[in-house]
Amino acid sequence: MKTNNNNLISEEKHRWGWTLPRQCPSQEVSFHVHCHYLKQYIKPGDRVLEIGPGPGHYTKVLADLGARVVLVNISSVQLELNRQCAGRFGFGYSVVDWVRHDMRDMGTFVDGTFDAVVCFGAINCVMENRDQAIAELLRVLKPGGIALIGVMSLWGTLHAHLPDAINAASLDENLAMVKTGDLCQETYQNCVQPRHLFTAKEFRELLERNKVTIEVLTASNSLATTWHDRLEDILTDETKRNQLLQLEILASRQPGCLDTGTHIIGIVKKQLR
Ligand SMILES: C[S@@+](CC[C@H](N)C(=O)[O-])C[C@H]1O[C@@H](n2cnc3c(N)ncnc32)[C@H](O)[C@@H]1O
Repeated sequence: MKTNNNNLISEEKHRWGWTLPRQCPSQEVSFHVHCHYLKQYIKPGDRVLEIGPGPGHYTKVLADLGARVVLVNISSVQLELNRQCAGRFGFGYSVVDWVRHDMRDMGTFVDGTFDAVVCFGAINCVMENRDQAIAELLRVLKPGGIALIGVMSLWGTLHAHLPDAINAASLDENLAMVKTGDLCQETYQNCVQPRHLFTAKEFRELLERNKVTIEVLTASNSLATTWHDRLEDILTDETKRNQLLQLEILASRQPGCLDTGTHIIGIVKKQLR
C-alpha cells in the first residue's frame, strides 16, 4: 500500500487531535468513560482483540494497561494509520499483530483464544449483520472472557446533534431514521457513511441473544453531551474535572440515562458453557 506516512497521521490529527479523541469537550468525557471501564476490566498480560481500532486511541490505553493486543480492521488504510501511530506515539510494543479482517468473519482466529475483546464503534458499521458480528466476536473470546462493546446511540446522537438533524433533514427523514435506527441513503439523502444507531433496549436484546452475562450497560457522556464550551474550564481544573467524570460515570449507568449519551457501552462475560 502506497501511503505518505506524515500525511496519513496529520489528516487524522486534523480530524481528531491525537492526545485525546477530542473534537469537543463532551467527546473527551466520553473517552474517559470508555477508559474507566477498560481500566476496570483489562489486566496486565491479557491477550486482547481490538476490533475497529481506528488510529489507536484505545490501543494506547490497552498498551498502558499492559495488554498484548491483536488489531483487526476491515480497512487497510485504517490499519496502516494505526501502525504509524503505534510507532509515532509509542504503543507498538504491545501490538502482537495488525490483521485485515471483516469482523463478521475472522476465520483465521481459533475459537476461544482471547481473554478480552474490545470493539468500540465498529458494530454500527455492519448494519443488519450485527447479530453475526456479535456472534463472531464472542466465538473468539475465551469462556469467562470479557467483551467491551461500544455503539453509537440513536436517541443520544439526536440529543447531541438536534439542531443539525433538524436543519439538515426533513421530518420524514428524521422519523424514518428513528424508526429504523438506520442512518443511510434511504433515510438521509446526503448520508455518506451508513451507520445503524441503537436504542439501549435494542442493544441489550442484541447482547442477550447470546450466551453472555451482562456485567455493565451504560451510556457515555449522558450528562456532558450538550454542554460544549461550558465544560472547557471544568476540564482544565483537576478537582472539577474529577467531579464531572465521577458524576458522569454514575449518571450514565442509571436506566433513565442509557439513551441520552452519544454512546452505549455493554460489558459482557461469555458464559463458561
Ligand atoms: C467509528 S470507528 C471507531 C474507531 C475507534 N474504535 C474509536 O472508538 O475511536 C469504526 C472502525 O471500525 C472499522 N470497521 C468498520 N466496519 C468493520 C468491519 N466489518 N470489520 C472490522 N472493522 C470494521 C472502521 O474501519 C473504523 O476503523
